[in-house]
Amino acid sequence: MKHFVTFEGIDGSGKSTISKHVYEKLKKKGYEVILTYEPTDSWIGKQVQKCIETGADPFITALTFTIDRFEHAKNIQNWLNEKKIVLCDRYAESTYAYQGVQLDSQIKDPIKWLKELTCNRIPIPDRTYIFVIEPKLSIIRIQNRKNLIPFERTSFLEKVHENYLKLAKGKQFLKIDATKTIEELVDICIKDILS
Ligand code: TMP
Repeated sequence: MKHFVTFEGIDGSGKSTISKHVYEKLKKKGYEVILTYEPTDSWIGKQVQKCIETGADPFITALTFTIDRFEHAKNIQNWLNEKKIVLCDRYAESTYAYQGVQLDSQIKDPIKWLKELTCNRIPIPDRTYIFVIEPKLSIIRIQNRKNLIPFERTSFLEKVHENYLKLAKGKQFLKIDATKTIEELVDICIKDILS
């Protein structure tokens, strides 16, 4: 049984939809479950939104996402202490994948630097799903959204996609083909969480 589970993938990979369905299904089965997400709605999360919308300096963006997570991690730890299942739509790997691309031309090995920034101060998920989809397809899925943000460009998402594939190594990660049906994807996650 897994208690802390994160959902990751490029924009348009469907992870938010699947995390909502998984949440509903676990609740129906009687489990105490929390669905949370990043960036959060806290005051720091609002600064994160500003960073995204204004195309802020990549270092400021990376640090702001990380501070938002530090604050969020305290809530996550409390929920885990209460023995709840915590589902989180985006977490640390989003920063490594997205800001890893933004910082690529600025520092050597940005992902290593971003990982060190957390100073082991955030809970490590029991499982991280990486919803894998070709960026060209994910862009088609999101092209009708009203407010596309600067990250939602194929060329940028191609690099984020590469970073996710690099990150998805080790027991924590499960790569999932995001082109499967919603029912299939929810089923994969539920079976995995309860095993
Ligand atoms: P959302 O669409 O899942 O709400 O996320 C908003 C955008 O923020 C999305 O393009 C991914 C990006 N993002 C980062 O760049 N770094 C992060 O650490 C997180 C959590 C999100």
